[in-house]
Amino acid sequence: MALAGFIVIGIVVPLISSRALKESGVNYRREFAGFNSYFLDSIKGIKDIVLNNAEKDREGEVNRRSDILLKETKKMKHGITKAGAATELCVTLFIAISLIVGILLVHFEMLDLGAMLIGVVTIFGSFGPVLAVSALPGNLTQTFASGDRVLNLLSETPAVTPVENGKTFDYENLSVKDLSFAYESSAPVLKDVCMNAKKGEIIGIVGESGCGKSTFLKLLLRFWEKDRGEINYNGIDVDNIDSDNLLDNVTMVSQTTYLFDESIEENLRIAKPNATQEEIERACKMASVHDFIMSLPEGYKTQVGAMGDNLSAGEKQRIGLARAFLKGSELILLDEPTSNVDSINEGMILKSLAEQKSKKSIILVSHRESTMAIADRIYRVDRGVMQEVK
Ligand SMILES: Nc1ncnc2c1ncn2[C@@H]1O[C@H](COP(=O)(O)OP(=O)(O)O)[C@@H](O)[C@H]1O
Ligand SMILES: [Mg+2]
Repeated sequence: MALAGFIVIGIVVPLISSRALKESGVNYRREFAGFNSYFLDSIKGIKDIVLNNAEKDREGEVNRRSDILLKETKKMKHGITKAGAATELCVTLFIAISLIVGILLVHFEMLDLGAMLIGVVTIFGSFGPVLAVSALPGNLTQTFASGDRVLNLLSETPAVTPVENGKTFDYENLSVKDLSFAYESSAPVLKDVCMNAKKGEIIGIVGESGCGKSTFLKLLLRFWEKDRGEINYNGIDVDNIDSDNLLDNVTMVSQTTYLFDESIEENLRIAKPNATQEEIERACKMASVHDFIMSLPEGYKTQVGAMGDNLSAGEKQRIGLARAFLKGSELILLDEPTSNVDSINEGMILKSLAEQKSKKSIILVSHRESTMAIADRIYRVDRGVMQEVK
């Protein structure tokens, strides 16, 4: 009888309740994650919310999502309570049955009273661990739902598979031939692009916003795979180059530099974790940001603040540039390095770049003609077609 009780309470009831709880566990986790990211997004964008006087709408949406989350939480708790109640009911039932059977056995003199009492009390006491098993589905469904989300994320396939054990090179020259590329099922962004660059050159690429300049740089780094044509470094096709080696040779400074909520020094070290203080300072001097950092209360140890809000766009950009110099790659790709900055910062950045001319190879992308003053040669992109202009 006790065995029957254990099987029902420890296996049958949990199996049934876990099936019933699964859906609510998954729903709860989904709403929970959705609410979290919406709320975090609202905090990150709080400045723009205030500027657009959209607090009311945003708050309304936060409340709406919070209500949905509450509803899902209640649903889940309700399910867990129901499962718990079913378990308790079964326990009571089995205890009652064993007591009745015990009394009957004593009544018909098939068992003496002492043995019956010991038996019944033992059965009473033995349900503890089984109850613990029975309580598992309530917690486990949520754990499994969370696990599912993580596993789904892990099984996402990247757009490009990194090349492992590929060829290695030390940057000498770059040659691009008949390169064409389109993002999935949209119009071609680049058409038969040809360009070349060699060590020590500053190449400018200029073109209207949206013409494919950033896409071109991403192809050079193999963030996307080209559709047609060739991208050769020292004559080796980019698809055959070891991905780590490619990133050692080529660095990109993007339009906005992301700074982590750490000290400036730690932010720079991302590029080279074991860099010495001298190396860090040299890179910052090259990027014309050393003097600025030294003017801060704690110098290189100054905390950047969440999302780098305490620094101007130009200062952040110069730190991004210092990162690139610190990394030590020969070829540096600069995507609109001066588009977010005022003319003083633009001047400083361009001056730093011009000074590094003999030491580094640079591909400089901008929609502004003024930025092109330091370039040795300039290509212009127009509706996906690239032509040399100087
Ligand atoms: N990940 C993407 N998926 C689809 N289309 C994209 C993606 N990134 C950029 N595009 C589109 O490709 C075109 C070129 O973009 P981009 O290279 O960023 O231009 P630029 O840097 O010259 O301003 C634009 O029309 C843009 O909308
Ligand atoms: Mg761009």
